[in-house]
Amino acid sequence: MNGPARRNHAPGFATRAIHHGFDRTGAQGALIPPIYMTSTYAFEHAAESEAVAAGELLRPLYGREENPTQSVLEARLANLEGAEACVVFASGMGAVGSLMLSLLSQGDEVVVHRTVYSNTLALTEDALPRFGIKVVPVDLSDPANLDPVLSRATRMVYFETPVNPTAEVLDIAAIAGRARAAGAMVVVDSTYASPALQRPLEHGAHLVLHALTKYINGHGDLLGGAVLGDAAMVERLRRHGLRYITGATMSPMSAFLVLRGTKTLGLRMERHGQTAQRIAEMLAGHGAVARRVRYPFLPSDPGYPAARRQMANGSGMLSFSLLSGNDGADRFMDRLRLVLRAVSLGDAETLIMRPGALLRGALRADPAAHLAGGVDEPTMRLSVGLEDAEDLLDDLSQALDGA
Ligand SMILES: Cc1ncc(COP(=O)(O)O)c(C=O)c1O
Repeated sequence: MNGPARRNHAPGFATRAIHHGFDRTGAQGALIPPIYMTSTYAFEHAAESEAVAAGELLRPLYGREENPTQSVLEARLANLEGAEACVVFASGMGAVGSLMLSLLSQGDEVVVHRTVYSNTLALTEDALPRFGIKVVPVDLSDPANLDPVLSRATRMVYFETPVNPTAEVLDIAAIAGRARAAGAMVVVDSTYASPALQRPLEHGAHLVLHALTKYINGHGDLLGGAVLGDAAMVERLRRHGLRYITGATMSPMSAFLVLRGTKTLGLRMERHGQTAQRIAEMLAGHGAVARRVRYPFLPSDPGYPAARRQMANGSGMLSFSLLSGNDGADRFMDRLRLVLRAVSLGDAETLIMRPGALLRGALRADPAAHLAGGVDEPTMRLSVGLEDAEDLLDDLSQALDGA
Protein backbone atom coordinates (compact mmCIF):
# COMPACT_ATOMS: atom_id res chain seq x y z
CA MET A 1 0.00 0.00 0.00
CA ASN A 2 1.27 3.52 -0.76
CA GLY A 3 1.42 4.86 2.79
CA PRO A 4 -1.40 5.45 5.26
CA ALA A 5 -4.63 6.78 3.81
CA ARG A 6 -5.51 8.83 6.89
CA ARG A 7 -2.82 10.60 8.87
CA ASN A 8 -2.20 8.84 12.19
CA HIS A 9 -4.91 6.27 11.50
CA ALA A 10 -4.57 2.61 10.67
CA PRO A 11 -6.20 1.93 7.28
CA GLY A 12 -9.93 1.25 7.52
CA PHE A 13 -11.82 -1.90 6.55
CA ALA A 14 -12.64 -0.84 2.97
CA THR A 15 -9.04 0.19 2.27
CA ARG A 16 -7.66 -3.09 3.60
CA ALA A 17 -10.31 -5.07 1.71
CA ILE A 18 -9.01 -3.52 -1.52
CA HIS A 19 -5.26 -3.46 -0.90
CA HIS A 20 -4.08 -5.78 1.84
CA GLY A 21 -1.91 -8.79 1.07
CA PHE A 22 -0.74 -8.04 -2.48
CA ASP A 23 2.80 -6.85 -3.19
CA ARG A 24 2.88 -5.50 -6.76
CA THR A 25 6.67 -5.39 -6.91
CA GLY A 26 6.76 -9.14 -7.47
CA ALA A 27 4.13 -8.89 -10.23
CA GLN A 28 5.62 -6.25 -12.55
CA GLY A 29 3.33 -3.65 -11.04
CA ALA A 30 0.15 -5.45 -12.13
CA LEU A 31 -2.84 -3.74 -10.53
CA ILE A 32 -4.60 -7.05 -9.91
CA PRO A 33 -3.03 -10.22 -8.40
CA PRO A 34 -2.07 -12.81 -11.03
CA ILE A 35 -3.77 -16.22 -11.13
CA TYR A 36 -1.11 -18.90 -10.69
CA MET A 37 -2.65 -21.86 -12.50
CA THR A 38 -0.12 -24.45 -11.41
CA SER A 39 -0.30 -27.73 -9.55
CA THR A 40 3.38 -27.93 -8.57
CA TYR A 41 6.61 -25.91 -8.25
CA ALA A 42 10.06 -26.58 -9.74
CA PHE A 43 13.41 -26.18 -7.95
CA GLU A 44 16.93 -25.37 -9.18
CA HIS A 45 18.47 -27.97 -6.89
CA ALA A 46 17.20 -31.10 -5.15
CA ALA A 47 18.50 -29.71 -1.85
CA GLU A 48 16.13 -26.75 -2.18
CA SER A 49 13.03 -28.92 -2.48
CA GLU A 50 14.26 -31.01 0.45
CA ALA A 51 14.64 -27.87 2.58
CA VAL A 52 11.09 -26.80 1.65
CA ALA A 53 9.71 -30.25 2.52
CA ALA A 54 11.52 -30.08 5.88
CA GLY A 55 10.01 -26.65 6.59
CA GLU A 56 13.41 -24.95 6.60
CA LEU A 57 12.69 -22.85 3.52
CA LEU A 58 9.35 -21.09 2.99
CA ARG A 59 8.25 -21.68 -0.60
CA PRO A 60 5.33 -23.62 -2.05
CA LEU A 61 6.07 -27.29 -2.67
CA TYR A 62 2.79 -28.60 -4.07
CA GLY A 63 -0.56 -27.05 -5.01
CA ARG A 64 -2.72 -29.02 -2.59
CA GLU A 65 -1.33 -26.99 0.32
CA GLU A 66 -0.24 -23.68 -1.17
CA ASN A 67 -0.67 -21.37 -4.14
CA PRO A 68 0.45 -17.72 -4.48
CA THR A 69 -3.02 -16.47 -5.52
CA GLN A 70 -4.52 -18.28 -2.54
CA SER A 71 -1.85 -16.78 -0.28
CA VAL A 72 -2.91 -13.23 -1.21
CA LEU A 73 -6.50 -14.15 -0.38
CA GLU A 74 -5.50 -15.77 2.92
CA ALA A 75 -3.46 -12.72 3.97
CA ARG A 76 -6.34 -10.40 3.09
CA LEU A 77 -9.00 -12.42 4.89
CA ALA A 78 -6.81 -12.82 8.00
CA ASN A 79 -6.32 -9.06 8.08
CA LEU A 80 -10.05 -8.31 7.72
CA GLU A 81 -10.99 -10.83 10.42
CA GLY A 82 -8.21 -9.69 12.80
CA ALA A 83 -6.77 -13.23 12.76
CA GLU A 84 -3.17 -14.43 12.97
CA ALA A 85 -3.67 -16.73 9.99
CA CYS A 86 -6.15 -18.09 7.45
CA VAL A 87 -6.48 -21.20 5.31
CA VAL A 88 -8.95 -21.41 2.43
CA PHE A 89 -10.81 -24.48 1.16
CA ALA A 90 -12.73 -25.62 -1.91
CA SER A 91 -16.10 -25.03 -0.22
CA GLY A 92 -17.61 -24.12 3.11
CA MET A 93 -18.21 -27.81 3.83
CA GLY A 94 -14.58 -28.45 2.85
CA ALA A 95 -13.67 -26.06 5.67
CA VAL A 96 -16.12 -27.59 8.19
CA GLY A 97 -15.06 -31.18 7.42
CA SER A 98 -11.34 -30.40 7.40
CA LEU A 99 -11.67 -28.53 10.69
CA MET A 100 -13.58 -31.25 12.52
CA LEU A 101 -11.52 -34.16 11.21
CA SER A 102 -8.21 -32.39 11.84
CA LEU A 103 -8.93 -31.12 15.35
CA LEU A 104 -11.13 -33.86 16.87
CA SER A 105 -10.19 -37.42 17.79
CA GLN A 106 -11.93 -40.55 18.99
CA GLY A 107 -13.28 -40.03 22.52
CA ASP A 108 -13.60 -36.24 22.16
CA GLU A 109 -16.92 -34.50 22.68
CA VAL A 110 -18.13 -31.59 20.59
CA VAL A 111 -20.98 -29.36 21.71
CA VAL A 112 -23.02 -28.06 18.75
CA HIS A 113 -25.87 -25.56 18.87
CA ARG A 114 -29.11 -27.43 18.15
CA THR A 115 -29.66 -25.53 14.88
CA VAL A 116 -26.90 -25.33 12.27
CA TYR A 117 -26.65 -25.40 8.47
CA SER A 118 -28.25 -28.68 7.31
CA ASN A 119 -25.06 -30.30 6.03
CA THR A 120 -23.10 -29.32 9.13
CA LEU A 121 -25.93 -31.05 10.99
CA ALA A 122 -25.52 -34.11 8.76
CA LEU A 123 -21.75 -34.13 9.40
CA THR A 124 -22.18 -33.92 13.16
CA GLU A 125 -25.13 -36.33 13.36
CA ASP A 126 -24.09 -38.93 10.81
CA ALA A 127 -20.34 -38.78 10.22
CA LEU A 128 -18.61 -37.78 13.45
CA PRO A 129 -20.21 -40.51 15.63
CA ARG A 130 -18.86 -43.12 13.17
CA PHE A 131 -15.37 -41.97 14.13
CA GLY A 132 -16.03 -42.22 17.87
CA ILE A 133 -16.59 -38.50 18.37
CA LYS A 134 -19.55 -37.72 20.62
CA VAL A 135 -21.79 -34.86 19.52
CA VAL A 136 -23.82 -33.06 22.18
CA PRO A 137 -26.59 -30.83 20.76
CA VAL A 138 -27.41 -27.92 23.07
CA ASP A 139 -29.68 -24.86 22.83
CA LEU A 140 -27.03 -22.15 23.14
CA SER A 141 -29.58 -19.34 22.94
CA ASP A 142 -29.19 -19.54 26.72
CA PRO A 143 -25.40 -19.78 27.26
CA ALA A 144 -26.02 -21.22 30.75
CA ASN A 145 -27.22 -24.43 29.02
CA LEU A 146 -23.53 -25.11 28.36
CA ASP A 147 -22.67 -25.53 32.03
CA PRO A 148 -24.18 -28.98 32.65
CA VAL A 149 -22.72 -30.52 29.46
CA LEU A 150 -19.14 -29.25 29.64
CA SER A 151 -16.70 -31.89 30.82
CA ARG A 152 -13.02 -32.81 30.53
CA ALA A 153 -13.87 -34.59 27.28
CA THR A 154 -15.36 -31.43 25.69
CA ARG A 155 -12.85 -30.51 23.04
CA MET A 156 -14.88 -28.03 20.99
CA VAL A 157 -17.96 -25.82 21.14
CA TYR A 158 -19.26 -25.13 17.63
CA PHE A 159 -22.02 -22.76 16.55
CA GLU A 160 -23.13 -20.30 13.90
CA THR A 161 -24.24 -16.76 14.57
CA PRO A 162 -26.49 -15.56 13.12
CA VAL A 163 -27.76 -19.12 12.81
CA ASN A 164 -28.67 -20.69 9.46
CA PRO A 165 -31.61 -20.77 8.73
CA THR A 166 -33.34 -19.10 11.68
CA ALA A 167 -31.23 -15.88 11.82
CA GLU A 168 -31.23 -16.13 15.63
CA VAL A 169 -28.20 -14.49 17.28
CA LEU A 170 -26.07 -16.35 19.83
CA ASP A 171 -23.99 -14.44 22.38
CA ILE A 172 -20.37 -15.15 21.37
CA ALA A 173 -18.69 -13.66 24.47
CA ALA A 174 -21.00 -15.43 26.94
CA ILE A 175 -20.60 -18.81 25.23
CA ALA A 176 -16.84 -18.41 24.69
CA GLY A 177 -16.25 -17.38 28.29
CA ARG A 178 -17.89 -20.55 29.61
CA ALA A 179 -16.24 -22.83 27.03
CA ARG A 180 -12.77 -21.36 27.60
CA ALA A 181 -13.09 -21.77 31.36
CA ALA A 182 -13.68 -25.48 30.74
CA GLY A 183 -10.69 -25.72 28.38
CA ALA A 184 -12.75 -26.17 25.18
CA MET A 185 -11.97 -24.70 21.79
CA VAL A 186 -14.58 -22.22 20.50
CA VAL A 187 -15.39 -22.25 16.76
CA VAL A 188 -17.87 -19.78 15.23
CA ASP A 189 -19.27 -20.09 11.71
CA SER A 190 -19.72 -16.39 10.87
CA THR A 191 -20.92 -16.92 7.28
CA TYR A 192 -24.20 -15.03 7.87
CA ALA A 193 -22.34 -11.86 8.91
CA SER A 194 -18.89 -11.71 7.22
CA PRO A 195 -16.01 -9.79 8.84
CA ALA A 196 -17.55 -6.53 7.64
CA LEU A 197 -20.24 -6.92 10.32
CA GLN A 198 -18.85 -9.28 12.98
CA ARG A 199 -15.44 -10.51 14.11
CA PRO A 200 -15.92 -13.39 16.59
CA LEU A 201 -12.21 -13.53 17.56
CA GLU A 202 -12.69 -10.15 19.27
CA HIS A 203 -15.36 -11.78 21.46
CA GLY A 204 -13.38 -14.84 22.56
CA ALA A 205 -13.62 -17.39 19.73
CA HIS A 206 -10.47 -19.40 18.92
CA LEU A 207 -11.39 -20.00 15.27
CA VAL A 208 -13.80 -18.45 12.78
CA LEU A 209 -15.18 -20.26 9.76
CA HIS A 210 -16.75 -18.84 6.59
CA ALA A 211 -18.45 -20.28 3.56
CA LEU A 212 -16.76 -17.88 1.10
CA THR A 213 -19.44 -19.06 -1.35
CA LYS A 214 -21.78 -16.58 0.35
CA TYR A 215 -21.17 -12.93 1.28
CA ILE A 216 -17.39 -12.76 1.01
CA ASN A 217 -17.37 -13.73 -2.66
CA GLY A 218 -20.87 -12.35 -3.03
CA HIS A 219 -21.49 -13.08 -6.69
CA GLY A 220 -22.87 -16.62 -6.70
CA ASP A 221 -20.27 -17.92 -9.14
CA LEU A 222 -18.06 -20.24 -7.04
CA LEU A 223 -17.74 -22.29 -3.86
CA GLY A 224 -15.13 -21.64 -1.19
CA GLY A 225 -14.47 -21.81 2.53
CA ALA A 226 -12.02 -20.42 5.09
CA VAL A 227 -10.89 -21.00 8.66
CA LEU A 228 -9.15 -18.17 10.53
CA GLY A 229 -7.54 -17.70 13.90
CA ASP A 230 -4.58 -18.97 15.88
CA ALA A 231 -1.59 -19.57 13.56
CA ALA A 232 -0.68 -23.01 14.99
CA MET A 233 -4.24 -24.34 14.57
CA VAL A 234 -4.52 -22.94 11.05
CA GLU A 235 -1.16 -24.50 10.17
CA ARG A 236 -2.48 -27.84 11.41
CA LEU A 237 -5.53 -27.53 9.15
CA ARG A 238 -3.27 -26.85 6.18
CA ARG A 239 -0.62 -29.52 6.89
CA HIS A 240 -3.06 -32.25 7.99
CA GLY A 241 -6.54 -31.26 6.81
CA LEU A 242 -5.65 -30.08 3.32
CA ARG A 243 -2.65 -32.31 2.72
CA TYR A 244 -4.06 -35.73 3.57
CA ILE A 245 -7.44 -35.67 5.31
CA THR A 246 -9.75 -33.95 2.83
CA GLY A 247 -7.55 -32.43 0.09
CA ALA A 248 -10.35 -29.84 -0.26
CA THR A 249 -8.12 -27.25 -1.94
CA MET A 250 -9.55 -24.06 -3.48
CA SER A 251 -8.72 -23.53 -7.16
CA PRO A 252 -6.49 -20.54 -7.99
CA MET A 253 -9.25 -19.18 -10.25
CA SER A 254 -11.73 -19.22 -7.36
CA ALA A 255 -9.17 -17.53 -5.08
CA PHE A 256 -8.81 -14.76 -7.68
CA LEU A 257 -12.57 -14.28 -7.87
CA VAL A 258 -13.00 -14.20 -4.09
CA LEU A 259 -10.26 -11.53 -3.94
CA ARG A 260 -12.34 -9.48 -6.36
CA GLY A 261 -15.37 -10.00 -4.15
CA THR A 262 -13.58 -8.79 -1.01
CA LYS A 263 -13.12 -5.32 -2.52
CA THR A 264 -16.83 -4.52 -2.36
CA LEU A 265 -17.65 -6.53 0.77
CA GLY A 266 -18.14 -3.53 3.08
CA LEU A 267 -20.29 -1.66 0.55
CA ARG A 268 -22.39 -4.70 -0.22
CA MET A 269 -23.00 -5.58 3.43
CA GLU A 270 -24.16 -2.05 4.16
CA ARG A 271 -26.72 -2.24 1.36
CA HIS A 272 -27.83 -5.81 2.18
CA GLY A 273 -28.48 -4.67 5.75
CA GLN A 274 -30.35 -1.48 4.85
CA THR A 275 -32.72 -3.27 2.50
CA ALA A 276 -33.20 -6.28 4.80
CA GLN A 277 -34.11 -3.95 7.67
CA ARG A 278 -36.90 -2.36 5.57
CA ILE A 279 -38.14 -5.77 4.45
CA ALA A 280 -38.08 -7.15 8.00
CA GLU A 281 -40.13 -4.16 9.19
CA MET A 282 -42.64 -4.58 6.35
CA LEU A 283 -43.03 -8.31 7.05
CA ALA A 284 -43.35 -7.78 10.82
CA GLY A 285 -46.27 -5.42 10.21
CA HIS A 286 -48.06 -7.51 7.56
CA GLY A 287 -51.30 -9.29 8.42
CA ALA A 288 -50.43 -12.46 6.47
CA VAL A 289 -47.17 -13.02 8.35
CA ALA A 290 -47.59 -15.35 11.31
CA ARG A 291 -44.72 -16.01 13.60
CA ARG A 292 -42.08 -13.68 14.75
CA VAL A 293 -40.02 -12.33 11.89
CA ARG A 294 -36.42 -13.06 12.83
CA TYR A 295 -34.00 -10.29 11.96
CA PRO A 296 -31.25 -9.44 14.48
CA PHE A 297 -31.74 -5.68 14.20
CA LEU A 298 -35.49 -5.63 14.78
CA PRO A 299 -35.74 -4.29 18.35
CA SER A 300 -38.40 -6.96 19.03
CA ASP A 301 -35.95 -9.77 18.11
CA PRO A 302 -34.67 -11.75 21.13
CA GLY A 303 -31.18 -11.53 19.63
CA TYR A 304 -31.22 -7.72 19.42
CA PRO A 305 -29.14 -6.99 22.58
CA ALA A 306 -26.42 -9.50 21.64
CA ALA A 307 -26.51 -8.34 18.00
CA ARG A 308 -25.84 -4.78 19.13
CA ARG A 309 -22.85 -5.94 21.17
CA GLN A 310 -21.23 -8.12 18.53
CA MET A 311 -22.46 -6.96 15.09
CA ALA A 312 -22.03 -3.60 13.37
CA ASN A 313 -25.26 -4.01 11.45
CA GLY A 314 -27.68 -6.66 10.18
CA SER A 315 -26.86 -8.65 7.04
CA GLY A 316 -29.37 -9.64 4.39
CA MET A 317 -30.57 -12.80 6.18
CA LEU A 318 -33.98 -13.13 7.80
CA SER A 319 -36.58 -15.80 8.46
CA PHE A 320 -40.37 -15.66 8.70
CA SER A 321 -43.49 -17.73 8.18
CA LEU A 322 -47.08 -17.12 7.09
CA LEU A 323 -50.40 -17.66 8.88
CA SER A 324 -51.39 -19.89 5.97
CA GLY A 325 -48.64 -22.44 6.83
CA ASN A 326 -46.77 -24.67 4.40
CA ASP A 327 -49.26 -24.41 1.54
CA GLY A 328 -49.43 -20.65 1.90
CA ALA A 329 -45.64 -20.47 1.90
CA ASP A 330 -45.42 -22.43 -1.35
CA ARG A 331 -48.16 -20.30 -2.95
CA PHE A 332 -46.34 -17.16 -1.80
CA MET A 333 -42.99 -18.35 -3.17
CA ASP A 334 -44.55 -19.34 -6.49
CA ARG A 335 -46.03 -15.87 -6.91
CA LEU A 336 -42.67 -14.10 -6.57
CA ARG A 337 -41.44 -12.56 -9.84
CA LEU A 338 -38.14 -10.91 -8.88
CA VAL A 339 -37.10 -12.95 -5.83
CA LEU A 340 -35.67 -16.29 -6.95
CA ARG A 341 -36.49 -19.69 -5.45
CA ALA A 342 -33.00 -21.06 -4.78
CA VAL A 343 -30.80 -22.41 -2.00
CA SER A 344 -27.61 -20.46 -1.09
CA LEU A 345 -27.35 -16.91 0.21
CA GLY A 346 -25.28 -13.75 0.22
CA ASP A 347 -25.57 -13.04 -3.50
CA ALA A 348 -26.58 -9.89 -5.38
CA GLU A 349 -29.80 -11.71 -6.34
CA THR A 350 -32.47 -12.05 -3.63
CA LEU A 351 -33.09 -15.73 -2.90
CA ILE A 352 -35.79 -17.53 -0.94
CA MET A 353 -36.23 -21.12 0.26
CA ARG A 354 -38.19 -23.14 2.82
CA PRO A 355 -35.55 -25.20 4.67
CA GLY A 356 -38.05 -27.46 6.46
CA ALA A 357 -39.31 -28.72 3.09
CA LEU A 358 -35.82 -29.25 1.65
CA LEU A 359 -34.30 -30.82 4.77
CA ARG A 360 -36.52 -33.88 4.48
CA GLY A 361 -34.42 -35.38 1.71
CA ALA A 362 -31.05 -34.36 3.12
CA LEU A 363 -31.18 -35.86 6.57
CA ARG A 364 -31.13 -39.41 7.80
CA ALA A 365 -33.31 -39.31 10.85
CA ASP A 366 -36.93 -38.43 11.53
CA PRO A 367 -37.48 -34.92 10.13
CA ALA A 368 -39.58 -34.08 13.18
CA ALA A 369 -36.47 -34.39 15.34
CA HIS A 370 -34.65 -31.83 13.22
CA LEU A 371 -37.59 -29.53 12.94
CA ALA A 372 -37.89 -29.60 16.72
CA GLY A 373 -34.36 -28.21 16.72
CA GLY A 374 -35.58 -24.75 15.87
CA VAL A 375 -36.57 -24.98 12.19
CA ASP A 376 -40.31 -25.41 11.88
CA GLU A 377 -41.73 -26.45 8.52
CA PRO A 378 -43.43 -23.23 7.40
CA THR A 379 -40.33 -21.10 8.08
CA MET A 380 -38.88 -19.45 4.99
CA ARG A 381 -35.36 -18.12 4.71
CA LEU A 382 -34.85 -14.93 2.74
CA SER A 383 -31.45 -13.76 1.53
CA VAL A 384 -31.98 -10.12 0.64
CA GLY A 385 -29.81 -9.14 -2.34
CA LEU A 386 -28.72 -5.85 -3.82
CA GLU A 387 -31.68 -4.98 -6.03
CA ASP A 388 -33.56 -1.70 -5.43
CA ALA A 389 -35.38 -1.96 -2.10
CA GLU A 390 -38.64 -0.66 -3.64
CA ASP A 391 -38.64 -3.40 -6.26
CA LEU A 392 -38.15 -6.09 -3.62
CA LEU A 393 -40.81 -4.62 -1.33
CA ASP A 394 -43.25 -4.50 -4.27
CA ASP A 395 -42.55 -8.09 -5.26
CA LEU A 396 -42.88 -9.45 -1.71
CA SER A 397 -46.05 -7.43 -1.08
CA GLN A 398 -47.82 -8.58 -4.27
CA ALA A 399 -46.92 -12.19 -3.46
CA LEU A 400 -48.17 -11.83 0.15
CA ASP A 401 -51.46 -10.35 -1.04
CA GLY A 402 -52.13 -13.44 -3.11
CA ALA A 403 -51.06 -15.98 -0.52
C1 LIG B 1 -23.60 -21.18 7.64
C2 LIG B 1 -23.04 -22.05 6.56
N1 LIG B 1 -21.91 -22.73 6.77
C3 LIG B 1 -21.37 -23.53 5.84
C4 LIG B 1 -21.97 -23.71 4.61
C5 LIG B 1 -21.36 -24.62 3.60
O1 LIG B 1 -20.82 -23.88 2.54
P1 LIG B 1 -20.64 -24.49 1.06
O2 LIG B 1 -22.02 -24.50 0.46
O3 LIG B 1 -19.71 -23.52 0.39
O4 LIG B 1 -20.06 -25.85 1.19
C6 LIG B 1 -23.16 -23.04 4.34
C7 LIG B 1 -23.85 -23.24 3.06
O5 LIG B 1 -24.97 -22.83 2.86
C8 LIG B 1 -23.71 -22.18 5.33
O6 LIG B 1 -24.84 -21.50 5.13
